[in-house]
Amino acid sequence: MKKIIFLASLLLTAMTTTAQVYLDPNAPLEERVQDALSRMTTHEKILVLHAQSKFTSAGVPRLGIRQLNMDDGPHGVREELEWNTWNVARWTNDSIVAFPSLTCLAATWNRDLSTLYGHSVSEEFAFRGKDIMLGPGVNIQRTPMNGRAFEYMGEDPMLAGEMVVPYISAAQKNGVACCLKHFVLNDQEIDRFNVNVNVSERAMREIYLFPFQRAVEKAHVYTIMGSYNLWNGDHCCHNDALLNGILKKEWGWDGALVSDWGGTTNTLQAAYGGLDIEMGTWTDGKVKEAQHGYSAYYLANPFEKLINEGTIPMSVLDEKVARVLRTIFRTAMNPKKVIGSQCSEAHYDACRQIGEEGIVLLKNSPLPSSPKGEGLLPLTSEKLARLSKGEGLRILVVGENATRSLTQGGGSSELKTLRDVSPWEALNSQLSTVNCQLSLAQGYKSGRSIYDHVDPVDPAENARLKAEALDAARQADLILFIGGFNKNHKQDCENGDRESYDLPFGQSDLISELAKIQPNLVVVTFGGNPYAMPWLPKVKALLHCWYLGSESGTALANVLTGKVNPSGKLPVTFAKRLEDYPYAKFGEEAYPGITGVQVPANSAGEVPHRQVYYKEDIYVGYRGFDHDKVQPQFPFGFGLSYTTFAYGKPSVTMDGDSFTITVTLTNTGKAAGKETAQIYVSAPQSKILPKPQKELKTFAKTRLLAPGESETLRMTIPRRDLASWNETTHSWQVDSGTYTFLVAASATDVKGKAIVNIP
Ligand code: BGC
Repeated sequence: MKKIIFLASLLLTAMTTTAQVYLDPNAPLEERVQDALSRMTTHEKILVLHAQSKFTSAGVPRLGIRQLNMDDGPHGVREELEWNTWNVARWTNDSIVAFPSLTCLAATWNRDLSTLYGHSVSEEFAFRGKDIMLGPGVNIQRTPMNGRAFEYMGEDPMLAGEMVVPYISAAQKNGVACCLKHFVLNDQEIDRFNVNVNVSERAMREIYLFPFQRAVEKAHVYTIMGSYNLWNGDHCCHNDALLNGILKKEWGWDGALVSDWGGTTNTLQAAYGGLDIEMGTWTDGKVKEAQHGYSAYYLANPFEKLINEGTIPMSVLDEKVARVLRTIFRTAMNPKKVIGSQCSEAHYDACRQIGEEGIVLLKNSPLPSSPKGEGLLPLTSEKLARLSKGEGLRILVVGENATRSLTQGGGSSELKTLRDVSPWEALNSQLSTVNCQLSLAQGYKSGRSIYDHVDPVDPAENARLKAEALDAARQADLILFIGGFNKNHKQDCENGDRESYDLPFGQSDLISELAKIQPNLVVVTFGGNPYAMPWLPKVKALLHCWYLGSESGTALANVLTGKVNPSGKLPVTFAKRLEDYPYAKFGEEAYPGITGVQVPANSAGEVPHRQVYYKEDIYVGYRGFDHDKVQPQFPFGFGLSYTTFAYGKPSVTMDGDSFTITVTLTNTGKAAGKETAQIYVSAPQSKILPKPQKELKTFAKTRLLAPGESETLRMTIPRRDLASWNETTHSWQVDSGTYTFLVAASATDVKGKAIVNIP
């Protein structure tokens, strides 16, 4: 009898085990999802749809279904916060590697580095036990005032779309989901919770949605974060037309839509508007604590009540839960999820490489005394010896960013690093073998900022720092100015935009005065946005560095000294004046929007506080500069090198539904270097669908070419990438006619053309 009972219990165990399809990692995903769903109570289903702490959502412990651990994003894993508050948890094992800002990654134009970035950063997320990294971001840089532009990938949808795909694919291969943000039109921080964006259907599709669509179609991104702002009157965290209509139905996306922290405002809209996981409600997304418990969230008790009453059908709940379960199985319960590592040398190495390739050399004037028009940079030991005329060269470093940690500040992307190398440290170590003396003068002071509070700076203190720098300049043979922006409030920081196009903290005056004293002046700026450069003709060289992360100093010093030849190119147009940006001519309506407009309330009874009208339409960034015939200071795609490249004659062939452009690049200078060839297309003009003068359609970067060496680049453009959005038919349309493929070194430097007729 005992034996029979034993055998029966074995059989029962075996049956239940085999029946637990949801726990079988080899079973088809949809079967696992349906099986898990069938075992969950209504209450358990509700619990997985909202936060259970600041950065986690619940699993189903009874069934062994794990919770989702999330964290910011996108440049490294954020410091651990307390379970229920925005206070730091003061752990001692959560210091990480800060990777360069996403603007820097975009400036590399190197898809392989994007793979390396996604792979490395996701290893750090996995090691810290995270399942979802809140990032990357691909909002379009339509204004240089945007406080969060540094977290995004520039002004061009194709560049952003192409560069984000390898990042996501590599991260998700490691079992860490990306949460692509902020979907969509979160292009300014002024009134970010309450601004309604009015944009044409065409600009929405071609410019703003495009990089997200790319990430959905090519990288199959697992989660997406809805943005705070409104579109067509509804918040983007629960906007039926956007999330159900476009994202889920039209694009066929099967992932989970996560709200931005505090971006949910209404239960019925959350239920029917495409939101799947509600996070951070009743907070301002950064410092304000929730007034209510998690069970009071819109998708918690209030939603459960409507389900139990039968007001909302169970199918609505199940659809959301299925998306969350999919995410859990793809990440937290993915047996292939890597263990990862934190602060490995490989990660520092990745950080350095991305930084080096993202730095953009904008100016490098020849030295009058030098042979053959050689530029002031790189500062090789041989050149420094020449400049010093046998005596020790006196190099003065001026500027707060020479020593300031730029991984701090900025809002949710702030990072706690284990080690950071500043430019000052790296220059000292790299120039230690050269006969020179390095000295430092701060030059200006910006104060520290915590979220929206900035320490006031005493003007007398700033005047003293400036006088000290100018004094020191009189004793110097060469000046390296290292400044730009930092991540203080209203610089490059969440929840506030810049207030002026000028460099902050009086830097422009300081640079101009330094240049009068010592013309051998190299300017290095950090920051996520373009700015005015009234002093440009007076300085010898200019490098723009975005933010470079933990290896900031090393990457910069390697470029300055010529260990690395710069190959970064601008992912955003640098205008001479703020007024030159395409939206600016339309005034406040176009940015930052206007208040007091009488509009009908949405279905939740909400009326947006501010309306912004994207009147420049599709003419964003270089498309607008072309259209308005305005000369930029530095065009999109621009970046110099310590060598030169010749472009061969391009050819284009049509193979089925795609075009292949072939061009050979040769290094014609004296240093090894890399070059990015950019392919823009001029499409046939039509009255119904007027086309921008040119649009970036693809690009490719050479390997490191030795002097004299050539590489043939082959780039394929699928026919559908030539399409424009037709607002009458509400669909993509490729017009017939003559298409000119422009092979270019920047948006204003066309090297060759090839023509194709599309019947
Ligand atoms: C930001 C998000 C961020 C979230 C969590 C929000 O304020 O907009 O980008 O992921 O906070 O920190």
